[in-house]
Amino acid sequence: MVYESDQVELPPVTDWVNDWDWLDDQWGENAIDIWNSVREQCPMATTERYGRAHMPVTMEGIQQVAKDTENFSSIWVNVSRPDAPRAPAPPITSDPPDHQGHRRLLLPAFSPKVIAPMEDEMREFCQGLIADLGDSPTADAAVQYAQHIPVHGICQLLGIPEDDADMFRDWIYRNFQLAPRDNSVRVAVQQEMDAYFGEMLKERQANPTDDLTSLIANAQIDGEDVGWPYKLGYMKLMIVAGIDTTWSAIGSGLWHLSNNPGDLARLAVVENDDPLWQTATEEILRFYAPVTMARKVIGDTEIAGCPVHEGDQMLVTFPAANHDPEAFENSEEFILDRERNRHVAFGLGIHRCLGSNLARVELTVALQEWVRAFPNYVLDESKKTTWANGQVRGPRKLPVVLNR
Ligand code: HEM
Repeated sequence: MVYESDQVELPPVTDWVNDWDWLDDQWGENAIDIWNSVREQCPMATTERYGRAHMPVTMEGIQQVAKDTENFSSIWVNVSRPDAPRAPAPPITSDPPDHQGHRRLLLPAFSPKVIAPMEDEMREFCQGLIADLGDSPTADAAVQYAQHIPVHGICQLLGIPEDDADMFRDWIYRNFQLAPRDNSVRVAVQQEMDAYFGEMLKERQANPTDDLTSLIANAQIDGEDVGWPYKLGYMKLMIVAGIDTTWSAIGSGLWHLSNNPGDLARLAVVENDDPLWQTATEEILRFYAPVTMARKVIGDTEIAGCPVHEGDQMLVTFPAANHDPEAFENSEEFILDRERNRHVAFGLGIHRCLGSNLARVELTVALQEWVRAFPNYVLDESKKTTWANGQVRGPRKLPVVLNR
């Protein structure tokens, strides 16, 4: 089916305080500088590009939004055109009291008991990707490595075909990079995902196995069958929350190490169980936190002293909070062995990331295997690194010289 594009063309941003735009070309590469510069001027920026939408940049403001479910609803989890069609993807799009039941249903699938045993197989998978590079002196660490790892993890959990990885990534690209400005893209992606997962859920209703897709296909909350649109929503959420998030974190970590030979050298000589790996992973998550969420304002209130009104959209800029000098000592320094690191890369409050155990295993294992294989790799300055902008930020092309 062909969908007419109704894309809104928007000019490049020149005023990030009064006219910010997370799909502007400058965002992907420069978001940290943008948030820091806004914070020096005021605690919250605003735009009218998608209706009125606010962007708090302080830890205080972001905590306030994330914890206040009375005034901020999760029915809108990205800043898009105000007439954007929205579909449920529980628990991330649910508010209390419904949120709790959806979350409880999925929680056991992401517990350390389920995730920890995946580590050895993830490691072998990463080693396989590295072996696939053959003797090549260069590689694209995002395209040939980072992007494959979380797809493998989520496909294992859901029991769905990894051969469809390109299609999953295409959905993610269109959903995050194009759909906020183009409703026809959102409708098309939703329809494609509904058709794909609808078939799969019906198959698992008829022939259940022990995978997460079967649990979702036959889901009940408090003895009641979960409605079909919610079951589809769980499946769609697993794909959009479980893939480019960790792909971006791995890519950002590899980008950082390719530019910081001192940090790379320190990690290259320690064992996998050395505490330096743990602090390094958390510092990558703090400094390069990939995920920015959003809320719909459902009650007039104030954030950091600035008024917000019912019907406005609100960015929940967790990555900006991680750079607030009020919240972190030397916030602009990347400190590999930072001891106190209460970052909010995984969010906070009732929607805190369900997949954080999985994400941490994937990120740590991916970095360990890469650093062991290529302890002297550097960024390939002759080629361009590209960054995804918008909701999930991270390198999408990461050319490196392997210096084997
Ligand atoms: C580095 C990787 C990841 C980061 C930075 C990240 C970040 C986040 C953040 C910030 C939230 C809070 C949403 C909000 O407040 O609206 C969230 C929620 C969530 N994440 Fe992740 N995530 C990552 C990986 C994953 C993975 C691998 C999965 C697996 C499917 C996952 C599944 C979820 C789910 C289901 C929620 C919704 C929880 C709820 O609403 O109760 N995430 N994530």
